[in-house]
Amino acid sequence: MKFVYLAIGASIAEVANAALYENTTSANHTCSIQTPYLSCSTNANPGLVDSCCVETFGGLVMGTQFWDTYTGLESKGQLLPERSWTIHGLWPDFCNGSYTQYCDLSRQFDPDPSPNTTNSLPNGTVVPAYGGPDISPVFEAFGKRDLLEYMNKFWIAQGTPNWELWAHEFSKHATCFSTFDVACYGPQYRENEDIIDFFESTIRYFKKQPTWEWLARWDITPSNSTTYSFAEIRDALASEYGAVPYVGCSGPKYNDTKAGRGSSDNGGTVFNEVWYFSHVFGKPQYGDYVPTDVGSFATTCAKTPGAIRYPSRTNGSEWSRNKP
Ligand SMILES: *[C@@H]1O[C@H](CO)[C@@H](O)[C@H](O)[C@H]1NC(C)=O
Ligand SMILES: *[C@@H]1O[C@H](CO)[C@@H](O)[C@H](O)[C@H]1NC(C)=O
Ligand SMILES: *[C@@H]1O[C@H](CO)[C@@H](O)[C@H](O)[C@H]1NC(C)=O
Ligand SMILES: *[C@@H]1O[C@H](CO)[C@@H](O)[C@H](O)[C@H]1NC(C)=O
Ligand SMILES: *[C@@H]1O[C@H](CO)[C@@H](O)[C@H](O)[C@H]1NC(C)=O
Ligand SMILES: *[C@@H]1O[C@H](CO)[C@@H](O)[C@H](O)[C@H]1NC(C)=O
Ligand SMILES: *[C@@H]1O[C@H](CO)[C@@H](O)[C@H](O)[C@H]1NC(C)=O
Ligand SMILES: *[C@@H]1O[C@H](CO)[C@@H](O)[C@H](O)[C@H]1NC(C)=O
Repeated sequence: MKFVYLAIGASIAEVANAALYENTTSANHTCSIQTPYLSCSTNANPGLVDSCCVETFGGLVMGTQFWDTYTGLESKGQLLPERSWTIHGLWPDFCNGSYTQYCDLSRQFDPDPSPNTTNSLPNGTVVPAYGGPDISPVFEAFGKRDLLEYMNKFWIAQGTPNWELWAHEFSKHATCFSTFDVACYGPQYRENEDIIDFFESTIRYFKKQPTWEWLARWDITPSNSTTYSFAEIRDALASEYGAVPYVGCSGPKYNDTKAGRGSSDNGGTVFNEVWYFSHVFGKPQYGDYVPTDVGSFATTCAKTPGAIRYPSRTNGSEWSRNKP
């Protein structure tokens, strides 16, 4: 199997066809000289603006984060950050809240595509599993070892090596932004610069959405001996972010727990996910956004007061901020 760079290099000819709009050219796209219209506004229309400079496809941009309590690969040094949530990804939903995925199969680096078809239906295009090597050498090629180190501290997978999560997020989601199309990088595109650009952009959002600190300001901190309410978590995050985020829970359903026996509340009881919705000015790459409410996405959490746990990390699963 040839290395990542070659896999893309060999398909340059198809890359133009893989753009979200057939008329996206690899002419120069100098976005600093374009007006950075807000995504999902009437101006954010591919007939009116340069779709490489204003997000016109997936204009409802979401910074998504996880709260895991272990990684399963602690023995290999894959640890979670103390006093911090971890990055899930940066997602381009349509303005109406629906979405698509795996929009450019010429940029498929996900070893375990999920869903396994482009539309998650049996009749969709099958997403071929990536069988190539770890994509980490791409960082070195761009002189970005510091970025790789940061990602190994804050963009953490559970049950698989971190790079598989990064590759999954890139191929499933980055390829569905109009502004990350290969053609947008112009005549001097360097293979894989879109990958690095997506990772850096995702981090830009993550750093502006410090979930751990935001919750701690409201005295909501991880604990295995305290419970919280969905409403207090949602309201704390909404106050800090400026719009209501999606708050997600896994774990036992409340009605299946001892405390919730007989209840009709079948929401999850373990707080583990937050999605921050936004509209963005110009390219999402700039990280210049307006928070927007979660809209019609229903929480998966139990709503009964005091039903939710925000669990402590497993002993030995965190790296310490006090030690390098
Ligand atoms: C490019 O194509 C999109 C649809 O694919 C269309 O909406 C848009 O008007 C086209 N832009 C130009 C400049 O022709
Ligand atoms: C949402 O918007 C997308 C993209 O414009 C469109 O394909 C889809 O049909 C819309 N979905 C609904 C439920 O309106
Ligand atoms: C996709 O996964 C589902 C569930 O595991 C399976 O039933 C289906 O056959 C798979 N489809 C393809 C095209 O591999
Ligand atoms: C794929 O399957 C869905 C659901 O069964 C159906 O609505 C849709 O028309 C199918 N699409 C094609 C292209 O056959
Ligand atoms: C676009 O960039 C190329 C270099 O990559 C340059 O040769 C060309 O003059 C530029 N075109 C315009 C219109 O600026
Ligand atoms: C809890 O709710 C789920 C989903 O409605 C249901 O499948 C399950 O049987 C319920 N458990 C109990 C103990 O009623
Ligand atoms: C807290 O509970 C979670 C399960 O919900 C467990 O994974 C974790 O190890 C516990 N933390 C400690 C410090 O015992
Ligand atoms: C985790 O460590 C704390 C003290 O650091 C200790 O009190 C607790 O019992 C440990 N939990 C487990 C599950 O080992």
